[in-house]
Amino acid sequence: MSEKEVTYREVFQRIDALLSEPCDWIAVMSTVVCELHHAFDNYNWTGFYRTVAPNLLQIGPYQGGHGCIDIPFSRGVCGAAARTKTTQLVADVHSFPGHIACSSSTLSEIVVPIISTSGTVIAVLDVDSDERASFDATDKAYLEHLCARLGRDYGHEAELTIRS
Ligand code: SME
Repeated sequence: MSEKEVTYREVFQRIDALLSEPCDWIAVMSTVVCELHHAFDNYNWTGFYRTVAPNLLQIGPYQGGHGCIDIPFSRGVCGAAARTKTTQLVADVHSFPGHIACSSSTLSEIVVPIISTSGTVIAVLDVDSDERASFDATDKAYLEHLCARLGRDYGHEAELTIRS
C-alpha cells in the first residue's frame, strides 16, 4: 500500500472517530476539510461548495486562502462536477476552459460531487494544489468513497436547505 493510501486510511479513521457523535452537516463538512487539509502537503486549498438553489453552488467550510462565493453549475471545475455528477480530475487548470482562478498559485485540482440517495447534488468537495498534476486515481478513489458516504448519510439533511 502506498504512503498516500496509508494517509487516507488514517484520515478516514480520524474522521470516523470525530463523527461518531451526532452532528449536523456543517459540523461534518468543517471536520472533513480540516482533517484532509492538514494531512497532505499538496492540499493547498480544501473546501466544500454547497448547492443552495437549483444550479447554484455557494462556498461552504474551507481551509486555505479565500474562495469565491458563488459558482453556477455552468462555470468552472466545480460547476462541471455538479452539472455532470462526475469527478473532475484536472492536471493543469490553465487548460480547463472556464476554470475559475480563486488563487493564481493553483495549478491542478480535483472536484468530487456529493450526491444524495435521491440523486441531488448537495455539494462538491474541491481540492486545489499548487503542484502540477498533483492528484491521481488514488486520490479520486478515496475521495469518491468519502463523498459517497457523505451523500448517503447527510444528503437528506442538506437537501432540505436548498432553496426552490
Ligand atoms: N477552481 C474552482 C473554483 C473554486 S476555487 O479554486 C476555491 C473552479 O474552477 O471551479
